[in-house]
Amino acid sequence: MRIFACLVCGVALSGVFASDEYWTLPIPPHGVAPDDYIEPTRELSPAACGLCHVEQFREWSSSMHAHSARGGVLGQLPAFDTETQVSCLNCHAPGSEQQALFLTADAGEVQSLSGVDCVACHVRRHRRYGPVSKPITPHGRVEALPLFKDSAFCSPCHQFPDWGERVNGKLLENTEQEWRASPYALEGVGCQDCHMPAGSHAFKGIHDPGMSRKALRVDVRRRHRGVEIRARNVGAGHALPTYATPRIRVVLRSGAPGGAGLEHTIQRRLHWDPDAGWTEASDTRLRPGQELRLVLPLEPAQNAEAIFLVEPDALYYEQVYPSLEASIGEELDPVSLRLLREAKHRAGHTGFVLYRARCPPWEGREVECPIEPAAP
Ligand code: HEC
Ligand code: HEC
Ligand code: HEC
Ligand code: HEC
Ligand code: HEC
Repeated sequence: MRIFACLVCGVALSGVFASDEYWTLPIPPHGVAPDDYIEPTRELSPAACGLCHVEQFREWSSSMHAHSARGGVLGQLPAFDTETQVSCLNCHAPGSEQQALFLTADAGEVQSLSGVDCVACHVRRHRRYGPVSKPITPHGRVEALPLFKDSAFCSPCHQFPDWGERVNGKLLENTEQEWRASPYALEGVGCQDCHMPAGSHAFKGIHDPGMSRKALRVDVRRRHRGVEIRARNVGAGHALPTYATPRIRVVLRSGAPGGAGLEHTIQRRLHWDPDAGWTEASDTRLRPGQELRLVLPLEPAQNAEAIFLVEPDALYYEQVYPSLEASIGEELDPVSLRLLREAKHRAGHTGFVLYRARCPPWEGREVECPIEPAAP
């Protein structure tokens, strides 16, 4: 139904889009390419754009945006009503054509879509939009939209509106507001500056070890009475991590068998209960500039090791996928259920060691414990 409603609004919006109507979701149908567009610019698939925009296509193909509509999302949708399906797809595959493909197919038939693709961000009714205008291209005039340089460009999908879902009073997705409250907003450093350096379309985030190392600077020292860790959010322009799904574990233990140890998690820790829904158990995320300090008491003769582990999909692996399988597993067709199980398996394998530091026994003076890999 939604799709037909938007065919109508698509007709009304035939001119050049302004910033405030650019992110109408789902994105209205593109219709037929203008006559003066030459092949292959009449095609709207990422691969077609990639014939000419080679670099952007290569980088985007490695991004989470390219993989935002696969098994973990599509596998569960057949258990929901159409309205809910569309609301999920509006962020995960926002084009009317993408959504029609999924909604008109049998359950399990469409196993992936092109996700948040070139067209989602750059094309409305076949017209191209970008950060600057280009009067003459093989696909006509490229319109400039100031929104492309603005953090608000990312908000339709990375910031819940005020009436969006909250857990313990806090919006489940609040990235733009976290950024607005940070010094980065005042300094004019926006989402694109950090996530699209030099125009990169790889959109690296917490799944990428290099990007995550930019976020957290750690300092580990052997002191007389133990080991001290300081870890500061120096590079993420929002809470580290911004979502409730990743977890960063800090494990500190003495080298002696059975020796002392401590563990701390940096996470907005949610708990799912079939009756109560989501509740927040704790929120130990690091705001921009915020520092974590941990101390493990040790005997002078003991050495110690500190490990920082990132598990970008911890919540999906441990709670979301298992509870979905328990609640809707039986309603799903075999293909969708398989997709969901594969997504759970994938989510359990995205973890990596962010840093590892080895501290020697007390040598009569305070030393910095060497950290691998060295911070960027
Ligand atoms: C036949 C080759 C070709 C294809 C296919 C093509 N483009 Fe282009 N595009 C160009 C050329 C050439 C320019 C102008 C580049 C310049 O002036 O620097 C351009 C410019 C652009 C710009 C403005 C770039 C800038 O530097 O500001 C955007 C955005 C864009 N294209 C998006 C797309 C998208 C999205 C697709 C696929 C739906 C696509 N293009 C398909 C050749 C192509
Ligand atoms: C149409 C919706 C949409 C828009 C607009 C959008 N994103 Fe995303 N983005 C997503 C979705 C959905 C995912 C998650 C994909 C998945 O995991 O399936 C994502 C993932 C990401 C990630 C990867 C995070 C990680 O876990 O490693 C980054 C970084 C990101 N987006 C940054 C941006 C930035 C910066 C902008 C603006 C320039 C932007 N996004 C605009 C929907 C969007
Ligand atoms: C406002 C935009 C938005 C909406 C609406 C939305 N998502 Fe997402 N979704 C995201 C972003 C951003 C991420 C990546 C961040 C993260 O991992 O939490 C994501 C991640 C996911 C993932 C993990 C993807 C993977 O490949 O592992 C699943 C599964 C998912 N969403 C399912 C859904 C479902 C089902 C719905 C509808 C009930 C939905 N989403 C609605 C933005 C959205
Ligand atoms: C999540 C949104 C998003 C997606 C997906 C996306 N782009 Fe972009 N693109 C942008 C933004 C934002 C800019 C402006 C970046 C800047 O100037 O800081 C941009 C810039 C560009 C430019 C101008 C030159 C440059 O690199 O700055 C071209 C060309 C382009 N994109 C093509 C593509 C193509 C081709 C795809 C698909 C393979 C694609 N984009 C996917 C958001 C997106
Ligand atoms: C000062 C640089 C900087 C700015 C500004 C910034 N980010 Fe990030 N972002 C990072 C770094 C570094 C990471 C990796 C560590 C992490 O997950 O926080 C990251 C991670 C992410 C992730 C991964 C998911 C997660 O749970 O952390 C998403 C999504 C994201 N950013 C979106 C955005 C959006 C949207 C904006 C603008 C409102 C933005 N970022 C502004 C640096 C930045």
